[in-house]
Amino acid sequence: TARRREEVSQHTKALDAAQKHYLAQLRDSPAAIRYLKQRGLTGIIAKEFGLGWASADRQALSKVFPHYDDPILVESGLVIESEDGRRYDRFRERVMFPIRNVKGEIVGFGGRIIGKGEPKYLNSPETPVFSKGNELYGLFEARAAIRSEGAVIVVEGYMDVVGLAQLGVRNAVATLGTATTPTHIQKLLRASDKIIFSFDGDSAGKRAAWRALQACLPLLRDDISIRFLFLPTEHDPDSYIREFGEEAFRACLKESDALSTFFLNELASRHSVKEVEGRSALVHEARPLLAQVPAITLKIQLQNELARLVQLTPEELAQLMAQLPPPTM
Ligand code: CTP
Ligand code: MN
Ligand code: MN
Ligand code: MN
Ligand code: MN
Repeated sequence: TARRREEVSQHTKALDAAQKHYLAQLRDSPAAIRYLKQRGLTGIIAKEFGLGWASADRQALSKVFPHYDDPILVESGLVIESEDGRRYDRFRERVMFPIRNVKGEIVGFGGRIIGKGEPKYLNSPETPVFSKGNELYGLFEARAAIRSEGAVIVVEGYMDVVGLAQLGVRNAVATLGTATTPTHIQKLLRASDKIIFSFDGDSAGKRAAWRALQACLPLLRDDISIRFLFLPTEHDPDSYIREFGEEAFRACLKESDALSTFFLNELASRHSVKEVEGRSALVHEARPLLAQVPAITLKIQLQNELARLVQLTPEELAQLMAQLPPPTM
């Protein structure tokens, strides 16, 4: 509607003005520039991703917005109103990562502190134009590379996207530390029919990968490829490529696990397949997951592999799948 369009345009205008300010601030902040350099980033990449700097000034944006009391500033998450009604900038002393939507409009920011302190990253709140569960950081910047590489890499963080791009891997996008949602996957599949998830190597990253797999199941088609790259425990994509280089990271991508492999390995690791009870529990867990897969060929193949794993004939498993009550979701 016209009202909605007007609201969106007010938000993007404000965010855009803030972005210009953060960009200008970065040029005047040797400490922030030093930080980015120390993380291996050149000015070219910083510029490409529009990295900026929010200074320590509690009301720096009052110089950008003459009407600092405009409610849109609070709504857009740029300004915070305290209990006593006083206003101050949300982002202070942080490297600023602008988050763009598919049209290239800025819809929010992430800000990283360069020293010690909490939280490490501060993000825009949910607003009429920004929702973490919908946006993928870097999708706009990566769109050409996603097409030319024929794949999209999904990572956890801002620095993973920018760090990979710095070293020549430009087709990465980030879920911004939230769980991968069905909306994310729909957006990813619109961009490419090949998705490679590459989360942090720690246990949180592993859990995030399993959740991403589950979110993928209802959207699987026989003509798409979804893979999972598991890095060494102590690494994320940014630290890995910085330490071992582009070729090593690309080799890891090649050796990533197919979704089917991750699916079966993970289930096998959760249950003791050497025992009758373990194999039964495995089927119990797998069944509602498999039931969600609409891709016919893939589903049959997964089912056959699963049957082997649990020492049933494919016919027995198929019969079981049909007999059990439908999954409660
Ligand atoms: N994140 C967040 N808030 C935090 C911590 C993390 O929103 N307090 C999100 C950010 O999008 C971050 C991502 O989760 O980029 C991944 O978090 P983490 O792995 O902790 O950060 P890195 O991206 O590895 O950060 P860095 O390399 O800068 O330390
Ligand atoms: Mn295709
Ligand atoms: Mn992490
Ligand atoms: Mn990192
Ligand atoms: Mn990380």
